[in-house]
Amino acid sequence: ELVSRLDRPIVLVGMMGVGKSTVGRKLAALLGLQFRDADDEIEEAAQMRVSEIFERFGESYFRDGERRVIARLMEGGAKVIATGGGAFAQEETRKLILDRGIAIWLDSDVDTLVERVGRRDTRPLLRGGDPREIIARLKAEREPFYAQAPIHILSNSGPHGEAVTRIVQELD
Ligand code: S3P
Repeated sequence: ELVSRLDRPIVLVGMMGVGKSTVGRKLAALLGLQFRDADDEIEEAAQMRVSEIFERFGESYFRDGERRVIARLMEGGAKVIATGGGAFAQEETRKLILDRGIAIWLDSDVDTLVERVGRRDTRPLLRGGDPREIIARLKAEREPFYAQAPIHILSNSGPHGEAVTRIVQELD
């Protein structure tokens, strides 16, 4: 039985808009595990929205909090964790995840990412620029990091349930 063999957190990494939270929630429900969203935990700890943390304190302050929140989430055995798109591009955070969890790179092409983030997005890194250009640049920059995850799942435009099924197959 897969669930009884899982003793480490399953950690979804990959670009904003790819569906880490949706897929993570479904995966956790299917496996009977707890689900945690790292961005939600950061907002809870800071009592502020992610966009407000970026505006008031800057990205490096956010990355510091993100690393500490993820370090805490990595404790306590099996669960499913969705991380923010930049987390796995941070060296210390990436090491934590690779050492203590099972990292899964959830991936899709730029068109799908742009479509999924939508037009009225509040993500701080998409402010003041063309979303497609920003997403394409960030994806290219981060791909060498995401590629260090031992499991790679492509999820282009199909329903998120398909990605969940393929993750379960890869874990088994
Ligand atoms: C970020 C992605 C966001 C959030 C923050 C920074 C990034 O999370 O952590 O806005 O650097 O790509 P999602 O991937 O859930 O959008």
